[in-house]
Amino acid sequence: MNASVPYVPTPRDVAIEMLKLANVRPGEVVVDPGAGECGIIILAVTMFNAVGIGIEINPALVRSCIESFERMGLRGKAYIVWGDLFDFDYSIADVVTLYLGSDVNEKLRPKLSRELKRGSRVVSHDFEVPGWRPISTIDVNGPFRTHRIYLYII
Ligand SMILES: C[S@@+](CC[C@H](N)C(=O)[O-])C[C@H]1O[C@@H](n2cnc3c(N)ncnc32)[C@H](O)[C@@H]1O
Repeated sequence: MNASVPYVPTPRDVAIEMLKLANVRPGEVVVDPGAGECGIIILAVTMFNAVGIGIEINPALVRSCIESFERMGLRGKAYIVWGDLFDFDYSIADVVTLYLGSDVNEKLRPKLSRELKRGSRVVSHDFEVPGWRPISTIDVNGPFRTHRIYLYII
């Protein structure tokens, strides 16, 4: 699959609320499929003491992630995979963060259902995962608009 979803970063405050809503605990593995410049991964590692793994198809964005990890000294805690988010094995994840669009969420849902372990959490920015019922939904004020976050528990 090619990168049909453009790069639009989740604002920092919204990303923090996503990670809080997912109740990320120290040492847990947070995976961001379509990680962009790894803003969510960096917050998961630096604010929540998680291990972060991004998956990104655009090599320029992958490079930006690596440069940020190096600059911030996150080696061994933050990782970026250059590739297609549909090729990743999500069984390692405790938390998955999504900002992809409902159509991609729908395509990804069967894979997440198959691979994620019981009790893992999925938080999705602005777009529902069709076919799943959210455990909770919150609205967060961003710099320019209100953002909706959906929480699912496997
Ligand atoms: C809306 S941005 C979200 C960025 C980041 N997750 C955030 O919330 O700040 C979506 C990202 O997904 C990437 N992407 C789109 N299709 C992809 C695919 N098939 N595999 C990996 N990355 C993909 C895009 O390059 C883009 O950076």
